[in-house]
Amino acid sequence: MTHHQRLLIIDFGSQVTQLIARRARELNVYCEIHPYQKVTERFLRDFAPQAVILSGGPASVTDEGAPRPPAAVFELGVPVLGICYGQQVMMQMLGGRVERGHGTAEFGRAWVTPTGEPLDLLEGWFGQGREQVWMSHGDHVSSIAPGFRVFGTSPGAPFAITADPARHFYAVQFHPEVHHTPGGRKLLENFTRIAGFAGDWTMGAYRQEAIRKIREQVGDKRVICGLSGGVDSSVAAVLIHEAIGDQLTCVFVDHGLLRQGEAEEVVTMFRDHYNIPLIAADESERFLGELEGVSDPETKRKIIGRLFIDVFQKYAGDIEGAEFLAQGTLYPDVIESVSFSGGPSVTIKSHHNVGGLPEKMGLKLVEPLRELFKDEVRALGRELGLPESFIRRHPFPGPGLAIRCPGEITREKLEILRRADAIFIDQIRRHGLYDEIWQAFVAILPVKTVGVMGDGRTYDYACALRAVTSVDGMTADYYPFSHEFLGETATRIINEVQGINRVTYDITSKPPGTIEWE
Ligand code: XMP
Repeated sequence: MTHHQRLLIIDFGSQVTQLIARRARELNVYCEIHPYQKVTERFLRDFAPQAVILSGGPASVTDEGAPRPPAAVFELGVPVLGICYGQQVMMQMLGGRVERGHGTAEFGRAWVTPTGEPLDLLEGWFGQGREQVWMSHGDHVSSIAPGFRVFGTSPGAPFAITADPARHFYAVQFHPEVHHTPGGRKLLENFTRIAGFAGDWTMGAYRQEAIRKIREQVGDKRVICGLSGGVDSSVAAVLIHEAIGDQLTCVFVDHGLLRQGEAEEVVTMFRDHYNIPLIAADESERFLGELEGVSDPETKRKIIGRLFIDVFQKYAGDIEGAEFLAQGTLYPDVIESVSFSGGPSVTIKSHHNVGGLPEKMGLKLVEPLRELFKDEVRALGRELGLPESFIRRHPFPGPGLAIRCPGEITREKLEILRRADAIFIDQIRRHGLYDEIWQAFVAILPVKTVGVMGDGRTYDYACALRAVTSVDGMTADYYPFSHEFLGETATRIINEVQGINRVTYDITSKPPGTIEWE
């Protein structure tokens, strides 16, 4: 994609390099992260960055063969910001000196105070006389490079902020990209402003560019897109449809493990609202048939995964002239990561439920979201007119209700589960809690318990409510509902859903638990 103004982030393996990109994108600045091994002089020339940021990293510049950017970075005539390791490598390459820790290591919160001389990078800083920053360094700069002056110091880092203002080279020992450096955003904003970024990386502009690029790539060929009902594949589908119209066909597989009303919702939205050619494949008989009698979680997942590929291939194979498969791959899935254990490494996660399909079917990929973070995909979805309720939907796993139905899956249990789940979600929406929660659902338990309703004895299923907060699904905590909310929800489920007579609330965090029950 051609972006007129690009920020290059050279990655030296810091855990938080992605955050630099996030912050830049929040400032409407287009940026890309590339591992230092890949950034050659030639790469720099082709990329033509408007500014460069050197990330932090775990290595020590005092080590032989420590990672470095090409010297040409400092000859481009563009602003350069070095962060932590990036600061040290910059100092060393430009003629300063870096030494090993020896009592000057600094980790965590620190306070930087100004030296008095003003600096464009620090505009809006030091209002309180000092700024809180987040440090994480063992080595330190012991003498700064020619042309540099000191603009901020901390107890452990006499050269916390240095700069060569004439060349627009800036070097900071702390991490401005993390939340624990509250003024970090301002600093990065100043940097991009100094570099002359217009801040024109908006989803409106992205939409136009993406459409042009899809048209260019696809020509007059046909594209298949597997819709899951999730945000990524939906946004990809709507965007591609806007670009090439009815050359796109979507395939939506109903495996019989969807939530209440979900299949209808997807069909209504895509076929009726967006007029996108859609094959809605009701394959529930086949999936539920093959799952009969299976209770082992891994076996369930394998059966569902295998059938999904089979079914998708069958329907996609019927679409004449299809040469492309659309996928909702996101930027975090494709960022190449720096590894110090075994040389350069590339981490590309297998994506969605159609992994391996493109090769098998000889299809080329269309991945219009490859450059976006999740929150940018949501912004693009809004730009494309997808309803807010859809964009903010909680994640839903590919194997669907199968993994919320521990033990054997039966149609009866699935029906009970759907109804209980719909009530739980309704309760959460009514109480205005939906957006605070990462994911919420009901699991139907493979036990029946005794109860009493009216004058009669009942012997029905127990269910568990699950609701968690999380940032990325990797770790999670249970949501602290009020007792009133839990009581009211339990009463509604037991009164309104025949087949459940006991409701429990799952208060396990992740780890040690997982979000799903299987
Ligand atoms: P766990 O249960 O591992 O789930 O804590 C973490 C997140 O991943 C989702 N999940 C899946 N998503 N296919 C998916 O597309 C799967 O097989 C799958 N398993 C778990 C889960 O819903 C949660 O958001």
